[in-house]
Amino acid sequence: MKKHIFITGGAGFIGSHVVRLFVDKYADYQIVNLDALTYAGNLENLKDVAEKPNYIFEKVDITDYEKVDFLFKKYQPCGVIHLAAESHVDRSITDPFVFIRTNVLGTCNLLHCAKELWKGDFDGKRFYHVSTDEVYGALENDGTFFTEETKYQPHSPYSASKAGSDHFVRAYHDTYGLPIVISNCSNNYGSHHFPEKLIPLAINNIKLKRSIPIYGKGENVRDWLFVDDHAAVIDVIFHNGKNGDTYNIGGNNEWTNIDLIRLLCKIMDKKLGRTEGESEKLITFVTDRAGHDLRYAINSQKLQKELGWKPSLQFEEGLEKTVDWYLANEKWVENVTSGEYQKYYKKMYS
Ligand code: NAD
Ligand code: TYD
Repeated sequence: MKKHIFITGGAGFIGSHVVRLFVDKYADYQIVNLDALTYAGNLENLKDVAEKPNYIFEKVDITDYEKVDFLFKKYQPCGVIHLAAESHVDRSITDPFVFIRTNVLGTCNLLHCAKELWKGDFDGKRFYHVSTDEVYGALENDGTFFTEETKYQPHSPYSASKAGSDHFVRAYHDTYGLPIVISNCSNNYGSHHFPEKLIPLAINNIKLKRSIPIYGKGENVRDWLFVDDHAAVIDVIFHNGKNGDTYNIGGNNEWTNIDLIRLLCKIMDKKLGRTEGESEKLITFVTDRAGHDLRYAINSQKLQKELGWKPSLQFEEGLEKTVDWYLANEKWVENVTSGEYQKYYKKMYS
């Protein structure tokens, strides 16, 4: 019998890249995508794998314990790769409770169902929790980095809820012996990214000649990683990471928001046949985000040394690829910005 692997949040940005990679690469796995299809989940993202025999979709809200438990009993997965989450900091500031429910309670439901199913027989089992570098809080502009030993100091309701979920994952390992692994990754960019996040929002606004909102003075620093690189390393960690361990994942690629947006404007001016400097005029400085973390930067030496991984793509190249994808997929952007995809899939799965 094929091994069943649960991937949660597979209809989202990173999850869809992980699902595609696993479905294409591992014919001997049955990949079960568990996703509630919130505003951020879109089955369009997976239409190229939807008909493959080793792919199954289950629409489920991970906060619903009974339904999650039913699916664990139905498929008896030996592995879980958990990405389902509310992921946008600005939304967490306006509505923290949905973050607490999905990110903390939802994660606990999955942990508990895995523990109940595996009943102490942990051979060949693994619960992989995909987390964020934001749990570590913020760095100064002083050349320091987040390591796996950095103290947790989350500032936003989003990062606090992810920190809470990380603690529960470790608690299930330490208390019940659940075989777990956690990774904390820096900011991702690439195709299928919901256009509320900085890069896809800016690409869309530049294309439509709308203003590009930059919080504060644009001096905040993020460490950007191409999403396919993240999916590839999730595969490596899921299969080779050490039980109970944490791995930091980063792009070694720090940019202030303003420099990043200027580079993006330059790339897009070229692609859209505009004169250089035209799109930069769209930059608009707006009120800063509350509690805005100044700088994130990851030291991923542990991952590089122990599992031999490093990012494959230069930022300019990744950014060009990303812009090309958005320009070639205008319909996708239109659908997600109008909410059209939700109407369609709501009908199919209700
Ligand atoms: P996303 O918002 O694009 O997708 C989240 C997915 O989870 C969606 O498909 C959504 O429908 C699903 N989901 C949300 N609530 C759910 C619920 N209650 N039940 C079932 N499914 C639900 O997120 P993303 O950017 O792809 O992030 C995926 C994971 O990676 C998250 O755990 C996030 O914390 C982590 N992460 C993201 C980044 C980043 O830069 N995007 C960086 C590091 C870590
Ligand atoms: P975002 O893509 O929301 O990711 P995160 O907050 O998880 O790092 O934001 C990336 C950076 O861009 C962050 O410093 C906030 C900033 N930002 C803007 O300046 N304007 C925007 O419209 C958005 C969405 C983000």
